Amino acid sequence: MTEPGTAGAGQAAAEATPEVADAQQTEPPVVAAEDAAQPEEPAAGPAAGVAELPEAQPAAGQPVPEAVAVPVTEPTPVQPAEPAAPSENVTPVAVPEESAAGETGAEETAAGAPVPQALVAAPAEEAVPVPTAVEAEGAPQPHPLVVQDPQQAGPAEPAAEALPTAPLPQPSVHPEPQAHPDTVAQAAPEQAVQPLAPAGPQTLPAEQAPVPAPAEETTAHLGTAAAIAGAHPETPEQPAPADAAAADVAPAPQPEQPLGRFVPVDGQVPTTPHLAPTPPQPLVLPADRLQDLQGPQEQPEPVAATVPAPREGEPAVVPAAPDAEHPDVVQHADDLRTRAADQEESTADVAEAERSTGPAAPGYDDAEREAVLKVMRERRDIRNGFRGDPIPHEVLLRVLEAAHTAPSVGHSQPWDFVVIRSAETRRTMHELAMRQREAYAKSLPKGRAKQFKELKIEAILDTPVNIVVTADPTRGGRHTLGRHTQPQMAPYSSALAVENLWLAARAEGLGVGWVSFFDEREMVRSLGLPEHLEVVAYLCVGYVDEFPDEPELMQAGWSKRRPLSWVVHEETYGRRALPGEEPHDLLAETVAQIRPLDAKALGEAWERQKRMTKPAGALGMLEIISAQLSGLSRQCPPPIPEPAAVAIFAGDHGVHAQGVTPWPQEVTAQMVANFLGGGAVCNAFANQVGAEVCVVDVGVVADLPATPGLLPRKIRGGTSDMTTGPAMTREEAKAAIEVGIETARDLVAAGNKALLTGEMGIANTTASAALISVFTGADPAEVTGRGTGINDETLARKTDVVRRALEFHQPDPADPVGVLAAIGGFEHAAMVGLLLGGASLRTPVILDGVSAGAAALVARAIAPEVLAACIAGHRSAEPGHVAALNKLGLRPLVDLDLRLGEGTGALLALPLVQSTARAMHEVATFDSAGVTEK
Ligand SMILES: Cc1cc2nc3c(=O)[nH]c(=O)nc-3n(C[C@H](O)[C@H](O)[C@H](O)COP(=O)(O)O)c2cc1C
Repeated sequence: MTEPGTAGAGQAAAEATPEVADAQQTEPPVVAAEDAAQPEEPAAGPAAGVAELPEAQPAAGQPVPEAVAVPVTEPTPVQPAEPAAPSENVTPVAVPEESAAGETGAEETAAGAPVPQALVAAPAEEAVPVPTAVEAEGAPQPHPLVVQDPQQAGPAEPAAEALPTAPLPQPSVHPEPQAHPDTVAQAAPEQAVQPLAPAGPQTLPAEQAPVPAPAEETTAHLGTAAAIAGAHPETPEQPAPADAAAADVAPAPQPEQPLGRFVPVDGQVPTTPHLAPTPPQPLVLPADRLQDLQGPQEQPEPVAATVPAPREGEPAVVPAAPDAEHPDVVQHADDLRTRAADQEESTADVAEAERSTGPAAPGYDDAEREAVLKVMRERRDIRNGFRGDPIPHEVLLRVLEAAHTAPSVGHSQPWDFVVIRSAETRRTMHELAMRQREAYAKSLPKGRAKQFKELKIEAILDTPVNIVVTADPTRGGRHTLGRHTQPQMAPYSSALAVENLWLAARAEGLGVGWVSFFDEREMVRSLGLPEHLEVVAYLCVGYVDEFPDEPELMQAGWSKRRPLSWVVHEETYGRRALPGEEPHDLLAETVAQIRPLDAKALGEAWERQKRMTKPAGALGMLEIISAQLSGLSRQCPPPIPEPAAVAIFAGDHGVHAQGVTPWPQEVTAQMVANFLGGGAVCNAFANQVGAEVCVVDVGVVADLPATPGLLPRKIRGGTSDMTTGPAMTREEAKAAIEVGIETARDLVAAGNKALLTGEMGIANTTASAALISVFTGADPAEVTGRGTGINDETLARKTDVVRRALEFHQPDPADPVGVLAAIGGFEHAAMVGLLLGGASLRTPVILDGVSAGAAALVARAIAPEVLAACIAGHRSAEPGHVAALNKLGLRPLVDLDLRLGEGTGALLALPLVQSTARAMHEVATFDSAGVTEK
């Protein structure tokens, strides 16, 4: 955010939903959950379902409960386990943080929604409140277990071994956020936390709002850690819930898919069954063979041998009457039909057919249809594993014939195919492509460039045949039907020819790799093509060792497949529905896919950390983050969150009119231009850490010119003044949330493994303060800050504005979208969507400052388990941010008094998050390194 720059952060941890089957916890002793939870107030509204440990925390210096309550699948016997944290110093301490805003969260806890805040024995000495739930695969029971720190709890040994034998009896259950207010806190890694908050609140400028004492901070952080630690390392392996899997974009193995059909997908990608190659299908049949066919639905047999070779002087092999069955297949000028229009057959029978009410034309029979669909499923872009075997002429001819039967605008058939075999020409083309490859690599963020270096993007020299497919935009004269209005239809038509070629090649067992790393004009010159031609494709063709099941880019982690359900809309854009389904609400669908941390992976992470060649808990807070990443991804070690992208949502605010900031509103648009030009702090930080900067106009007043890197998603040019009416309509707020969800989807499908929040909007700290006041219960005076550095008078006015807006709207925290609409900003709403979208895709989201904190409060109120994906990047100098983090139970990784926004604090935290994941991959274990344990 621009305005005031705030920042802050915290991170979420393991959750404590009732479903959490933590029973198998390694951590032993179970104490009354209530003890640990006591201090907590009832969770407010919908958020109640999630662990809200941070609230109701003892003030700094106060004793902290020592155990962690873990919601467990009920009857699951708690096995004595090995101490989760080997460290002898570990002293489990439940550390409810002190709310920075005083009583903040306390009052707002929803009535009647008591949130047992438990603490789970963690591998560290301190206990941490954990906001998120751990996904227990077994049936969850709403019975919180309080587990003492292993160290204190005494021998909890055999836990690990016992666990497998004590599988949770219940099947996994979907978290019912609100319904299960379990909170899990855990002991955090010993002392690791201190160094993380070096600056501490003391370093804040005098005029800054009060910040929690260092002691409190530490506690907060620990709380987070504990949450994750709470996940039970020893949770027996259980099948993930079916719907949980759906949340992943990554393809999951599908049980037998029906052949011959694309499987509708919802949130998940079906795996293409690997089938034997389809035998070549005839494209043209000699007339005599045609006569043998029984009916229109009978298709010719494989006829590789019946297809004529492309040699001059052999017209006999061409079907005598190509137009009889395959009128589109014409190989020689002799075959062209030259009758004048007045010589054409009567169209009367056609008209008759149109009036016919008889049976519709038949489709293919099952085997034929399957063959067609199979070739589409199994077509691949190939760059690796080409063989040098020559391609027989008749094979290449069939492939080119297929290309030549493509549809085209106005039947203009604008394509030409230049078949290149010469090694010299291919070398020239290879050099051209290499130059462009380098230029592209230089343009990439470091995180991407690393990945790109490993990719093979062409096989020009590895293939015996290269084919250049061109489009002639002038072919057919100026009146080509359909091209008048849309001239791009010419190259589109040629692209369809490419697809036909690609499919036919696959059927022949030929691999095709499309290379688009060319400067087109340079290529036209090098190949000596007529200047008026456009080059549509450069294809490398040859026999291959194998056809991969999935796109090579997916296998390399470069991208993910988007589920079909994301892209099919019913009637109007945005009404997503697969045929036969009711349109689904994007927000509801996203929320339904959010799952708690996976208990098994979480447990494995703790186990692994114990085995790594370092003292237990020595990585402090980072161990908690890596466990969270494991639980989130369901993998241990977790994927390294690289590449990453920061989404900077920009919007303006009607409340600017109230004089809450000295900065003029147009600065929002100017800073957006600066981001896009690469001149802002976020750009420098992003360059340093190798992240992509993605700017999203979700509500900037000014019209922004189309620019690379800008996603135009404006809902409206600025919100309305919240002191005189709702900032947005409910529909607008929801639409902005959807922008955030879709941004998350896009960035994750594009291969990003971590998302970072960023925002820009003059006056947005006013909206942030209002949101935080609503969701923490803090008085506006406690959470309204100086933003960009306003003076006392402006601060007083700004605080009054927040107070008046809240009095005017009386926002109900149980209606988070309503709250957003009343007092939020478009960028806040979009960030809510980014968080929900990221969580639904099990992708970590690193939060930036105060506006991200406000958005996280809203997101948590919508879906408590969203915190499973949240990591607090930093803590900003804005007082409201501290209140938000405390309420969320997130401990920030960086605490440097930043107050800029733009995603800067999140960017600084990114390497920490990546480092901890990498450590899980690369650090040797005591066993593997032969290091003696103490
Ligand atoms: C228009 C177009 C241009 C492409 N250019 C390249 C390219 O330059 N280099 C490359 O390795 N792949 C290129 N591809 C292949 C895509 O990466 C590939 O189609 C995609 O990853 C999906 O994989 P699949 O074709 O195996 O399903 C291109 C594909 C298309 C459609």
